[in-house]
Amino acid sequence: MTDPIPAISSPDRERLVALTRRSHAVIAGHQDPGGAYPASPTFSAYRGYAWLRDGAFTAEGMSRYGDVGSVDRFHDWVTDVLAARAEQVAGLIAAAGAGQDLPLDRMLPTRFTFDGADGSDPWWDFQTDGYGMWLWAVVTHARRHALALDRWLPGVEVAVDYLLTFWDRPCYDWWEEHVEQRHVSTLGAIHGGLRAIAEAGALDPTRTRRALHVAEQARGLALAEGTTAGRAGDPAAPHLAKWLGSTAVDASLAACVAPFGLVEPGTTIAAATLDAVARDLDVDGGVHRFRADVFYGGGQWLLLACLLGWNRAVAGDRAGALRHLQWVADHATEDGELPEQVPDHLLAPERRDEWLERWGPVATPLLWSHGMYLILADELGLLPEDDQR
Ligand code: BGC
Repeated sequence: MTDPIPAISSPDRERLVALTRRSHAVIAGHQDPGGAYPASPTFSAYRGYAWLRDGAFTAEGMSRYGDVGSVDRFHDWVTDVLAARAEQVAGLIAAAGAGQDLPLDRMLPTRFTFDGADGSDPWWDFQTDGYGMWLWAVVTHARRHALALDRWLPGVEVAVDYLLTFWDRPCYDWWEEHVEQRHVSTLGAIHGGLRAIAEAGALDPTRTRRALHVAEQARGLALAEGTTAGRAGDPAAPHLAKWLGSTAVDASLAACVAPFGLVEPGTTIAAATLDAVARDLDVDGGVHRFRADVFYGGGQWLLLACLLGWNRAVAGDRAGALRHLQWVADHATEDGELPEQVPDHLLAPERRDEWLERWGPVATPLLWSHGMYLILADELGLLPEDDQR
């Protein structure tokens, strides 16, 4: 049963709604004319690049806000980028089928320049989660706005084929770390994407069958090897773990509940996973990535506060969800931009300066933070009326 929306004072409601308008304007204003959503237009290490991971959630926020044109352009852009790589992917699949050892630098990149190239700056490639997230985002957008998926099929098929072959390869995680591991949040994104596209009925029968099968294999692997069940220090209720064989918690695991449904919302393992994330990583409504984080001293991430809040809303805990939304709004800059993380509570304060020296101030605005804010505001019914957007 869903709790009623908790009482919000009128000025607070106005502030929260105003930040949705601002979030939409920030994302729309920085979208590349070709359709890409830059991760952070001014941040030294991200400038000039678009990630599928950031883009998928940013698109979901914009789709909920009702900016269909912006989201269509993003999905058109991804489709063009992936369709142009169809031959490369076919070659990779053939090589894997022939038993060749494929080095990471032959795989698809994690981020693209706005014209769809790999770019010349080295990065932590290879990561598969973004391909699953994009499939989920394009299906969700098409369903919400009653759009045909055919337009995006050339890109969709490349992403599907790529994941069907490489879904269980170790790769970098959401945070671009630990390439040697198989990450449960990555399996969650792949499960969510493949299941969404298979159930959308847009694929041919063979791809549909294989997509459903791999989605189930990803779930089976995560449940068999990626939970704390039976491990030392196992709590009474096992929860999903950071990677196969680990007992650590990572805030990205919340996405394995909502939106990706690797574990169904409301099940014991879903609740235990969200509880573990909250217990280990939520401080005053702001959410850390994982306890051992040292990036910029290991601050609290706005997009993760929104992800946990989204899960609270899905579980019917609207007061809990609102607490996260308010925390995020409290950390907007004076001109309404949302950073990637804030340093109110650092897990490794002694490590902050080295990152400031290396890459400069924290990425601000981070479009993914704004996209997540739109999603959580929508969950709470706090988007402006259509005629006031
Ligand atoms: C984060 C990634 C993100 C990228 C671009 C990195 O620091 O770890 O999750 O996709 O920034 O925002």
